[in-house]
Amino acid sequence: MNHLGSLTIFFGWIVLISGLWLLIFFRTSISGAFESLEYLTYEQWYLGGIMRSLHRYASDAMIITIALHIFREFSRNTYRLTRWFSWVAGIPLVWMVFILGISGYWLVWDELAQYVAITSSELLDAIPIFTSKMAANFLQDSALSNRFFTLMAFLHLIGLPIFLVFGIWLHVFRLTSPKINPPKQLMAGSLLAMLVLSLVFPAVSQDQANLALATQTIELDWFYLHVFPLVKIWSPGWVWVFLVGISTLIMFAPWLPPGKAQKAATVDLDNCNGCQRCADDCPYGAIQVVPRSDGKRYEHEVVVDPGLCTSCGICVGACPTATPFRKRSPLVPGIDLPRNSAELLKEAIEDTTETFPLVLSFACTGSTELAWLEAHDKPVVEVSCVGQIPPSYLDYVLSRNRAARVLLTGCGGSCTHRFGMDWTEQRIRRTRDPNLRRRLGADRIAMAWCEPWCSMRGLKAQLAALEMQAAETDE
Ligand code: HEM
Ligand code: SF4
Ligand code: SF4
Repeated sequence: MNHLGSLTIFFGWIVLISGLWLLIFFRTSISGAFESLEYLTYEQWYLGGIMRSLHRYASDAMIITIALHIFREFSRNTYRLTRWFSWVAGIPLVWMVFILGISGYWLVWDELAQYVAITSSELLDAIPIFTSKMAANFLQDSALSNRFFTLMAFLHLIGLPIFLVFGIWLHVFRLTSPKINPPKQLMAGSLLAMLVLSLVFPAVSQDQANLALATQTIELDWFYLHVFPLVKIWSPGWVWVFLVGISTLIMFAPWLPPGKAQKAATVDLDNCNGCQRCADDCPYGAIQVVPRSDGKRYEHEVVVDPGLCTSCGICVGACPTATPFRKRSPLVPGIDLPRNSAELLKEAIEDTTETFPLVLSFACTGSTELAWLEAHDKPVVEVSCVGQIPPSYLDYVLSRNRAARVLLTGCGGSCTHRFGMDWTEQRIRRTRDPNLRRRLGADRIAMAWCEPWCSMRGLKAQLAALEMQAAETDE
């Protein structure tokens, strides 16, 4: 579930590579197009046929992963407030993918292509900007010029893919280290599944197009063409109203209803040594490193862009000056969250551990894990994101005997703030600064995060194991 965006890109690669193979043999003429694809499907079934099927099935798979990706981002609320950009930039991507798919069906020049060409032209003719009627091109074969066909091929094979690549770049450009590639096993598994599908159900054409005859029964591709029947049921104009209306509604979803942004992280230069760790760990590129302005001997300082900051607190977890061992009160680190500060975190730990619980849990705001721990009266401290907890706080809990064990849990298996779990795990395993100090046995800290369908089971098992371990050590 964490890899739907990158899986869509992977399917895009399959579409591109298989498309390049098809391009070598494809003839961009009315009479040649159908025959060249028939040749690939039947004469060269072992390679060209497989490439054609991969091209079709990977395109279909893109629609599935895009739909799941939208649903997932929507359900995780990662599209509102300062995170609106990827969402809004995603809408043109959907249009581009659909136009690419639909234009692909034209090129086969079979009966389905004839239906798609005529219906698309009716749709385009309903837009008042075109002076001559496109549908007139499809009254008979002789009216359809090879030039027009070549133009469609150019649009499908070169023009739109270039726009799509640019669109994907724009979609993720505000994110730090976007996950562009899914894990290798997932890539291998999906490619294998698609190869099997291509061999068992190879993609084939329907009967050759003949504009002199009306299309008989055609099999629609419901991934790309589900809107087409509406052109006959409603009218082209109403289909446009529906499509543009629904796209606009979804595009404005980040502001429906308008939300109130949390206050952005703030920098306190008196406590900042310009180490840049916060900038390295911020998932949204909200922290800029600039030359020092206060005359201190350090080379750099950091500046937060409130328009990009999601108030996740991951930067506080990265700051070496955010340590509860500091004597100064109130505790002010180099970077902090105004509403959920390092000082408040320390106070929350102290309040929750007054009775020395066996296990102290930390859980993210809004997560089902937090709700479960609270409902079962387990000692738990709420954090914006687990990445907000500097390792020195875990050291503090364990070395000052505030609790025997610590359990960290997040939002199901995938961090709402992208890197909170990854960075926390790396800090605890001492592969990312700031590290957990060596004097602490890492076995006294457990992390419970797995995908939503197993997250509660995982949490309960980890908690029970930790409680038992702590009780046995006490005895
Ligand atoms: C071709 C289609 C698309 C591709 C290839 C794609 C790809 C991606 C990738 C790679 C990420 C980054 C994941 C990460 O590193 O955390 C992402 C994030 C995201 N995408 Fe898409 N996406 C597509 C369409 C869409 C659409 C249609 C929407 C919504 C209308 C959408 C909404 C989002 C949102 C909200 C995020 C998360 C941004 C954040 O964490 O702040 N995407 N997408
Ligand atoms: S709170 Fe999160 S988004 Fe804001 S600056 Fe810190 S790490 Fe970046
Ligand atoms: S991590 Fe802390 S000390 Fe380092 S640059 Fe950021 S605010 Fe300054």
